[in-house]
Amino acid sequence: MQAELSAIQEQAIQEIQGATSSPDLEELRLKYFGKKGVVTQYSRKLGTLSAEERPVVGKMINTLRDHLEEVLKTRGQELARVEEEAKFERERLDVELPGRQPRRGHPHPLQLIIQEITMTFLGMGFSVAEGPEVELDFYNFEALNIPAEHPAREMHDSLYITENTLLRTHTSPVQIRTMEKLNPNPVRIIVPGRVYRRDALDATHSPIFHQIEGLLVDKDITFGDLKGVLTVFIRKFFGADREVRLRPSFFPFTEPSTEVDVSCVCQGQGCRICKNTGWIEILGAGSVHPKVLAMAKYDPEVYSGFAFGMGVERIAMLRYGITDIRHFYENDFRFLSQFCL
Ligand code: DAH
Repeated sequence: MQAELSAIQEQAIQEIQGATSSPDLEELRLKYFGKKGVVTQYSRKLGTLSAEERPVVGKMINTLRDHLEEVLKTRGQELARVEEEAKFERERLDVELPGRQPRRGHPHPLQLIIQEITMTFLGMGFSVAEGPEVELDFYNFEALNIPAEHPAREMHDSLYITENTLLRTHTSPVQIRTMEKLNPNPVRIIVPGRVYRRDALDATHSPIFHQIEGLLVDKDITFGDLKGVLTVFIRKFFGADREVRLRPSFFPFTEPSTEVDVSCVCQGQGCRICKNTGWIEILGAGSVHPKVLAMAKYDPEVYSGFAFGMGVERIAMLRYGITDIRHFYENDFRFLSQFCL
């Protein structure tokens, strides 16, 4: 019996010392001290021994148990230390590593143009107004003196949603909506917004683009006021040395109507931008048509005003020397990052 117990002790110690992980060690503990463990079995057999043998063997088993438990404990501590170190190593953090720089966003070039133009008009006492992109035929056409069958409707290749609602083809309907709201007060608004036309996308056309509309209505407003305000804007935006030229034109909602040109940077030398004319067309404008005032219930005998509208993409292309409108919508980072301040 003593020899057996010594052999068990020797083997157990070898196994315990050879254990390479805490779960392995736990298995060994069960192997020797579990319910059916090797040492446990021996303790059970004690009852079958004679009265003389029992205390002797019992003592031997106790000594074996105490010794093996000591060895288990020591190996357990060793393994715990090794495992903890491995864990620290796995989770090592270099707190001095420089952080990843988040990429900084910035306004889209069209937004830069809208902001700059809007600010110029805010400086002249205008405020910003907005209107819906899904618009009633009434505001988009009818109230702007473009009745059904009017040829001007064909100039706007419209995208209809129902019989009398469409994606607005211009920002001009906000003129009517704002006048209705402010009546009988004077109106002085600038309206940036998105507009829609049934056009195919190419280098100079897009079915979705942006306009900025302006409207001023008050007593005693003349065509001279229109020219003055637009000249201030154009010189601020394009440069103090630029000339402004008004050409007669036609819009159903203004009378008289004009197209406004700015002199080219080439100063009349002739270049590609102005197609050798020395002038660049930048907006449409005019005195508000009496019928439009009347539609919004401003008495045309008392009130007068002027309106203007310009294409944001066109102006951005001139400002930045961009020759293809599609660049604005493709979100190519190489293009956009050039506008990072
Ligand atoms: N709404 C016109 C268009 O989309 C632009 C325009 C021209 C607006 C003259 C105006 C204006 O307010 O007076 O083509």
